[in-house]
Amino acid sequence: MVREWDPRTASSAEIASLLGTLNAVLAVDLPQDPPWRESSMREYLAEVMPGERRISWVAQAEAEADGTPGAILGHVHVLLLGDIGVLEVLVHPSARRTGLGRDLLLTAARRVYQEGFQSIGVEVVGDTPAIAFYESLGFSKEYVETRSVLDLSGVDWAELAEMATGISAGYHLQFHPGGPPDELIEAYARAKAEVRDVEDGELRPSSYDPQRLRDSLDCLHRRGMRPYIVLALHEQTGEVAGLTEVVVPVQHPTRADQYDTIVVQNHRGYGIDRAIKARMLMELRSAETELTEVQTWNAQANEAMLKVNAELGYRPDREWCEYSIDVAELVHRLDAGR
Ligand SMILES: CC(C)(COP(=O)(O)OP(=O)(O)OC[C@H]1O[C@@H](n2cnc3c(N)ncnc32)[C@H](O)[C@@H]1OP(=O)(O)O)[C@@H](O)C(=O)NCCC(=O)NCCS
Repeated sequence: MVREWDPRTASSAEIASLLGTLNAVLAVDLPQDPPWRESSMREYLAEVMPGERRISWVAQAEAEADGTPGAILGHVHVLLLGDIGVLEVLVHPSARRTGLGRDLLLTAARRVYQEGFQSIGVEVVGDTPAIAFYESLGFSKEYVETRSVLDLSGVDWAELAEMATGISAGYHLQFHPGGPPDELIEAYARAKAEVRDVEDGELRPSSYDPQRLRDSLDCLHRRGMRPYIVLALHEQTGEVAGLTEVVVPVQHPTRADQYDTIVVQNHRGYGIDRAIKARMLMELRSAETELTEVQTWNAQANEAMLKVNAELGYRPDREWCEYSIDVAELVHRLDAGR
């Protein structure tokens, strides 16, 4: 049975059951990824940026004879932003290939259609059944990135310390746990606005103006995700010449997520990319004692960044694909197949 579900008012048992399904999915689809913990799971599912909406549904098994509620076997949510609905569907491995994924998708797609949105986008992990699932439904592949993972136990810290200081004169690095300080927010947002050559995919929009940046940092904190920033300041102008952002989610604090890394055009060729990333790893090593890995996503064409990441010890892990479809076409196709 598929029903709309609000994580803000859901029982703790439901949140725990959904987490169990997520971890069962990870164990079969991405066995090298760390399982998620319950900390701030409700907030992770509920909190959004101002102006965005997330709508969720669950599929729950029948209650047991003694009245115990059934497990959450499937989940779908859609984040409505701009003119696109970004979707995530999850089906417990024990309940797959029964049409549940398709039912969940149709429920969400109908709503996206009714709300007047044009298209649906989804991130799909390479080498998992989700590729065949979305392709069977007519989604097309828009963009492919490579996820790479750095195992911190293999890092040569002395070499890294050298990389962190290997930056041209006229720049200095700053480390800011929690986000950029208020006096640097404007300069920081300018650096992000100027450069779109970022590490993130299109479904994870960056924050290009100061207010959106503040909102996005607030939202991260509410969802239980701890942001860290290293930036390179150009001493002569006070400009933010480069920045790198890593987030440590309380739900999986052994593996951090690399967000944007940007070196502003005029400041390229001075060793900034290498130095800010190296400094970040050194800072994380002392700030996050549970951390053992960092994962990052790169466009396959971004050779300069791939080269620096390889030097730091990142190893390519999976393809990470963005698929999309026209909503009206999808609803029509799914309804016709019923
Ligand atoms: C993708 C997913 C939602 C599919 O759920 P499902 O309930 O098994 O899907 P359905 O039964 O509705 O399948 C619909 C169609 O998709 C295709 N399909 C689904 N799984 C497939 C597979 N393993 N191989 C080939 N085709 C597949 C088939 O065409 C299927 O129709 P059919 O069974 O009539 O042949 C499920 O595998 C899942 O939760 N994957 C994890 C997704 C995720 O977010 N992961 C993130 C962390 S890795």
